[in-house]
Amino acid sequence: MSNRRKFVKNTVIGGIGISLLPTAKSYSRIMGSNDRINVAVMGTNSRGHALTQVFIESDNVLVTQICDVDSLVIDKTVAMANEAQGSKPKGETDIRKVLASKDVDLLVVAAPDHWHAPATLMALQAGKHVYVEKPCGHNAREGEMLIDAQKKYGKIVQMGNQQRSGVFAHTALKDIQQGVIGVPYHARCWYSNKRQSIGHGKPVDIPANLDYELWQGPAPREDYRDNIIHYNWHWFKNWGTGEICNNGTHALDIARWLLGVDYPTRVTSAGGRYHVDDDWEFPDTQNTAFEFGENKSISWESLSRNGMPLFGQMTGTLIQGTKGNMLVNTNGYRLFDESGKPIKELLSDSELDTADLVGINKLSHHHVSNTLNAIRKGETLNSPITEGHKSVLMCHLGNIAQQVGRSLNTDPVNGHILDDDDAMALWGRTYAKGWEPVV
Ligand SMILES: NC(=O)c1ccc[n+]([C@@H]2O[C@H](COP(=O)([O-])OP(=O)(O)OC[C@H]3O[C@@H](n4cnc5c(N)ncnc54)[C@H](O)[C@@H]3O)[C@@H](O)[C@H]2O)c1
Repeated sequence: MSNRRKFVKNTVIGGIGISLLPTAKSYSRIMGSNDRINVAVMGTNSRGHALTQVFIESDNVLVTQICDVDSLVIDKTVAMANEAQGSKPKGETDIRKVLASKDVDLLVVAAPDHWHAPATLMALQAGKHVYVEKPCGHNAREGEMLIDAQKKYGKIVQMGNQQRSGVFAHTALKDIQQGVIGVPYHARCWYSNKRQSIGHGKPVDIPANLDYELWQGPAPREDYRDNIIHYNWHWFKNWGTGEICNNGTHALDIARWLLGVDYPTRVTSAGGRYHVDDDWEFPDTQNTAFEFGENKSISWESLSRNGMPLFGQMTGTLIQGTKGNMLVNTNGYRLFDESGKPIKELLSDSELDTADLVGINKLSHHHVSNTLNAIRKGETLNSPITEGHKSVLMCHLGNIAQQVGRSLNTDPVNGHILDDDDAMALWGRTYAKGWEPVV
């Protein structure tokens, strides 16, 4: 075993001290602790490739299948996995075939956003556990379907917002609960990046290595263009969900968790495409405000085309309390008094990979370890779909408020939009015929 692998395993075995005893319900899905967990990864161009490595570096895991609709991507990840685990996973194009096979216990979904919920539902129906990347759905309705399906099939569904498994995040929560910044009442979240233009797409032939029909899957069909695949689909509404769901999910989830709030009562969004003339369909600059009951609020700022950091951080969450402030990064946090004077710093190198969230970082190892422990020992999930949905819903509501151009009043019980049929019509989506997801 390489030093790196040993190091990672030791770090993960150290655990993050937040395991709870299994509940009676969770016993039904517990495996013997020596059982190997067979993993299939769907979508391995970038994040899925990194997650394949993380799973391989975890104890008693075998990656048995790599599923992608791009044959070049399959070849790349199969070769890496073969080298890393000494066993060659099967490469497969069609997720339905992967789910039909008995050698898969857990499906990792790292395909584009329009596939997240449909693939998760198909996997649950096939009796698999799921690690689904954020955002858990392309729209609000899909998150609700995942909650229903998780209850129905009783398998693990962990969302891939790995900061939830950071040691520092749990310490931050404890600090807040002990009143270190008084009563927390407001959070500011942001992401800044100088993203380049994606230009204006031209119709071109579909590359021979790509199955574009399966890439589209549940999404209504659009002609192939040269500026969608890979990655740039993020900025088109048919497949992507914009910066708020892409990077906002991480920061907003931390804010919602540390403030202790669930669903908002009002959502307002301002912004637009101010910077670059290209095919983006989402704002490149967006300010979204969420009000909750109990005098609490959260704001989100997307600065997709301006790399100016805020508080020295490209992304983050600032929690403001009656007696001080907590500035959370992806690897730790700092405490300040009411006037902004620094009080304490908890930054951990061992958590770190601030520069590359796609990479194989410690947070991802902690999060994967928590997922595997949940399957094997009934450990409490750090980002169960019930919680993941609430944070992702904030992002969808921000997109809806932005699209309709007015404030939304929302139900604090479930986040549904009140007295606005046009906005509520954007709660779900239409699907390609034959691909409509069911619970
Ligand atoms: N948690 C994190 O920190 C983090 C970081 C990066 C990305 N992500 C998430 O991971 C997902 C993937 O992002 P990315 O940047 O890797 O995108 P990408 O476009 O680079 O890769 C997506 C891959 O999915 C494949 N794919 C598409 N349809 C498929 C299908 N039907 N079956 C199998 N494979 C299919 C594509 O061919 C491609 O290889 C996104 O939803 C993103 O939000 C999470």
